[in-house]
Amino acid sequence: MSAPLAPGVERVLFTEEQIAARIREVAAKISHDYEGRTLTLVGVLKGSVFFLTELARHLEVPVKIDFLGISSFSNKSGAPGLVRIAKDLDDSIEGENVLLVEDIVDTGFTLRYLLQTLAGRAPNSLAVCTFLDRNSRRIVQVRLDYSCFEIPDRFVVGFGLDYQQLYRNLGYVAVMKP
Ligand code: IMP
Ligand code: MG
Repeated sequence: MSAPLAPGVERVLFTEEQIAARIREVAAKISHDYEGRTLTLVGVLKGSVFFLTELARHLEVPVKIDFLGISSFSNKSGAPGLVRIAKDLDDSIEGENVLLVEDIVDTGFTLRYLLQTLAGRAPNSLAVCTFLDRNSRRIVQVRLDYSCFEIPDRFVVGFGLDYQQLYRNLGYVAVMKP
């Protein structure tokens, strides 16, 4: 018997089993691509935490982990896309092979800002791994090196993704009721 859905949830998009299987696949690809090197995972708080820990457990290369926190806001005319670092990394990434780990890439504004910022710190390499990709809403073109799932144009929660800070701890990814 399956557990009842959390209140406010319309339907499950990806089950715990589907998520675990897909993360293992992506981790295998990353392990192959970075064979012989040490990888620095940079997680974006807080959404990517669940994904990053699951991904890291299945990587077969040596891994370092660091986090940064951002805040996104609109300007006075309501235009989106302004991002700033609210909590910076603990350590330098100079010379490191950095894999930026995101929960979801939507318009692409956040990712573009983070890539520009991290690229300015002289890493040896810089790539992106996102859990979810909502490509239909992309405004800024950004390169995704690894992506687990493409999703439809609906607001989703679970496995790290929140609605008003809730639902992050759901084991599945779900579409919210409108
Ligand atoms: P972007 O800058 O538009 O690509 O926004 C990316 C950020 O918006 C993500 O890191 C999330 O924090 C948030 N976000 C976008 N779509 C969703 C969603 O469906 N559920 C929860 N958070 C979302
Ligand atoms: Mg985020």
